[in-house]
Amino acid sequence: MNKIVAKKQLSAEVFEMTVEAPLIAQARKAGQFIIVQIDTDWGERIPLTIADADAGAGTLTMVFQTVGATTHKLAVKEPGEYVENILGPLGNPTHVEKFGTVVCVGGGIGVAPLYPIVQAMKQAGNQVKVIIGARTKELVIFEDRMRNYADELVIVTDDGSYGRKALVTEPLKEFCALDPKPDMSVAIGPPIMMKFCEKTTAAFDVPVMVSLNTIMIDGTGMCGGCRVTVGGETKFVCVDGPEFDGHKVDFDNMMIRMRAYKAREDADHHSCHIGLGLPPHEAPVAAARK
Ligand code: FAD
Ligand code: FES
Ligand code: MG
Repeated sequence: MNKIVAKKQLSAEVFEMTVEAPLIAQARKAGQFIIVQIDTDWGERIPLTIADADAGAGTLTMVFQTVGATTHKLAVKEPGEYVENILGPLGNPTHVEKFGTVVCVGGGIGVAPLYPIVQAMKQAGNQVKVIIGARTKELVIFEDRMRNYADELVIVTDDGSYGRKALVTEPLKEFCALDPKPDMSVAIGPPIMMKFCEKTTAAFDVPVMVSLNTIMIDGTGMCGGCRVTVGGETKFVCVDGPEFDGHKVDFDNMMIRMRAYKAREDADHHSCHIGLGLPPHEAPVAAARK
C-alpha cells in the first residue's frame, strides 16, 4: 500500500501525483518506470514513468494522462488515500554521458518522462535543447521545470495557441541542420511522433534515443506483451528498454501491436458496470459481447 501525499491537475487531462515509496525513491534513476496497480480487486497494472523522486522524503512523483479506465480511476484518488501496489524501479536507466549538445523532444504526456532525462543530461555537462510539443496550450506541461535545465526551450502546439504552430519535427530539423549538428537526441511521445523524429534525425545522421511505451503486463520479461523489433531482433521493452536506438526500431509493427486490445480497452472505459452482477473486469467483457 502506497499513500498518496499530493495531487495536482496540470491540464484538462494530465495529473501529477506524489506517493510514498521510499525504497523506489532511493533506487530510481532517470528513464526508469513503475507498474502501478490501483486496486487489487480486479485492477489492471499500468506502467508509468517515474517523473521525479525525493529520496529524503521517500516519495516519487508520477505524471499521467487520463486516457482510459485505469488512469481515470487513478485520477479520482485523493491525498490520504492509497494505491495498492507499486512495483519498481523497472527498466534500464537512461544512458547518460557528456555527449556535447543533446536535443530532447517531448510530445504530449511524453514531456513528463523526458524531464528526468533533461535533468540528468544537463547535470552530465551537456548543452541541452528542449522541444515541448502539445495539441493545444492547455496541454503544455512542465514548461517551468524544463526552463530550469534547458539551455534553449522551444514550445510548439498543433493549433498555434501557444508557442510556434508546428509539429516537434520542425524545430528538431532546424537544430539538426545547425553546424555543428547535435551529438545526440532523445524523443519521447506518441509512437507516430517518435517515428517521425527518427526520420528527421536520420536525414542528418544524428543519433536518436526513444523511450517505447508498448503495452506491458508483468514488466519483468515474463509475458512477452511488450515485445518489439529492434534491429531485426525481438526485444522486450520492460527488461531490454524502455530506451532504444530509434534508428533501429520497427515503429510500424509496434503501432499495430499497441492497437491489439483497443476494443477491450474501450469497452472497459465506456461500459456501465452497475447491475451486471459481475466483477468489474468481467462486466465490460460481458457488455462488449452483447
Ligand atoms: P486504456 O483505455 O486501457 O488504454 C489506452 C491506451 O494506453 C492503449 O491504447 C495503449 O496504447 C495504452 N495502454 C493500455 N494498457 C496498457 C498497459 N498495460 N501498458 C502500456 N500501455 C497500455 N502514461 C502516462 O500518462 N504517463 C507516463 O509517465 C507513462 N509512462 C509509461 C512508461 C512506459 C514504460 C510505458 C510502457 C507506458 C507508459 N505510459 C505512461 C502509458 C500508460 O501506461 C497508459 O496510458 C495506460 O496504461 C493506459 O491505461 P488505461 O486503462 O487508462 O487506458
Ligand atoms: Fe511482460 Fe515485458 S511486460 S515481458
Ligand atoms: Mg486499461
